[in-house]
Amino acid sequence: SDSMFVPAVVVGTGYGAAVSALRLGEAGVQTLMLEMGQLWNQRGSDGNIFCGMLNPDKRSSWFKSRTEAPLGSFLWLDLANRDITPYAGVLDRVNFDQMSVYVGRGVGGGSLVNGGMAVTPRRSYFEEVLPQVNADEMYRTYFPRANSTLRVSNIDQTWFEQTEWYQYSRVSRQQADNAGLSTTFVPNVYDWDYMRREADGSAPKSGLAGEVIYGNNHGKVSLDKSYLAAALGTGKVTIQTLHQVKTVSQQSDGTYLLTVEQRDTDGKLLATKKVSCRHLFLGAGSLGSTELLLRARETGTLPNLSSEIGGGWGPNGNVMTARANHLWNPTGTNQSSIPALGIDDWDNPTHPVFAEIAPMPAGLETWVSLYLAITKNPERGTFVYNAAKDRADLRWTRDQNAPAVEAAKSLFDRVNSANTTIYRYDLFGKQIKAFADDFCYHPLGGCVLGKATDNFGRVSGYKNLYVTDGSLIPGSIGVNPFVTITAMAERNVERIIKEDVKAS
Ligand code: FDA
Repeated sequence: SDSMFVPAVVVGTGYGAAVSALRLGEAGVQTLMLEMGQLWNQRGSDGNIFCGMLNPDKRSSWFKSRTEAPLGSFLWLDLANRDITPYAGVLDRVNFDQMSVYVGRGVGGGSLVNGGMAVTPRRSYFEEVLPQVNADEMYRTYFPRANSTLRVSNIDQTWFEQTEWYQYSRVSRQQADNAGLSTTFVPNVYDWDYMRREADGSAPKSGLAGEVIYGNNHGKVSLDKSYLAAALGTGKVTIQTLHQVKTVSQQSDGTYLLTVEQRDTDGKLLATKKVSCRHLFLGAGSLGSTELLLRARETGTLPNLSSEIGGGWGPNGNVMTARANHLWNPTGTNQSSIPALGIDDWDNPTHPVFAEIAPMPAGLETWVSLYLAITKNPERGTFVYNAAKDRADLRWTRDQNAPAVEAAKSLFDRVNSANTTIYRYDLFGKQIKAFADDFCYHPLGGCVLGKATDNFGRVSGYKNLYVTDGSLIPGSIGVNPFVTITAMAERNVERIIKEDVKAS
């Protein structure tokens, strides 16, 4: 045929994909990674790879004509957004009917745009969410392996207590404390030593220059610097960028055939290619992997796929909210964009919440305390294939987020009442709104472990076809999810290499 054959293909270059590629490469398996975004290594005319948060340009967004920042407004004014030329930028906001999902695009996936918060879930909740997974093994072997390979570390607490850059965290901690709530330091993949050099002026600023959702020019150990660098170092792994996988089918010899569109950074189609492989790992994220399998099932290219594909989706209970502080309690003009603390009220019997104390690096005093609350919302959404548009639509209604808002409100009502403060209503668009219930950062599910796949991510109905990313997790994990996604991928690929790959 006219297709190129490689033993293993990994779709995407996010957490699950990067783990799979590294371990396949180490096992000596020739592996091709296909990533629809670009490799972020070219400097723009400003000398930087990524653009800043306060004055974004086309590098910020995945084919948009205007940026769509999560905190678009201040006093209801759309201050942070800019008109831009559509381009293969780093942050995408996928706008479904009643829920928008932020995802990263490029070599490293979400690791390019996320806050780097590297949280191991509490064991009791992990066991509740994924009861069929051996938690002993996870907490003994795979969580430690994920944390060390991701290069997760902790902030120096002495520095934290005295630096102006974390005044916003200390203010929020005090106010949580006044309400009888406890806070906890949150590990991160940001290089804390580098941040201290930013603070003392001996290194270019990144986390201390407000950089995060449109990429960090320095300091953050994103996947291209950890797992993916190691994967390429095996000599067995290659990455093709600006290559989007469109269809998957199976050939009579059992190998998989992909059609792949190659585009330039302006979106122009350069080539449509065919790639075939024996082992296919889908690491395109909750949205990407689910869409590929739904399309395959509904168009009949992989007709034996389970009816569970598309189910069990959730936003990890994400809700953003903000409080207004008193004038005598400023949060600081200088704010690190890398979160360091969380309010941990997960043991709350009615409304479990883990709330990241988020920065609002606006470059001026705002008196705002911002939070990304992770709640235990039992509601689940479903992806359905839209044949007319050839894409996956998400069935999720705004009122399904009501339990998440209720939980966040119950916690922050306590904080407000203990501190005689109020919510901010001006930050989430044009409406008067204290809770952002229409977008999320943590899409999870769509190809749930043990439902759409076996207990190791092997897709039901097909041999040598695997899901390896956040779509395996059924909608909620109680903390920021990438450490869990990474550790699960470590667990699954170890088993798959041992039982499926070596044998073939
Ligand atoms: P991920 O989304 O990382 O990667 C998928 C990759 O596949 C992408 O590079 C995409 O371009 C590519 N792709 C998709 N479809 C494709 C196709 N058809 N063909 C080729 N390539 C395709 N989490 C956390 O733990 N701590 C945190 O602090 C944060 N903060 C945060 C902030 C923001 C702004 C966002 C958007 C997200 C976070 N997250 C986070 C969430 C975290 O980034 C997310 O859970 C993981 O990146 C998901 O990892 P996956 O491996 O599932 O896919």
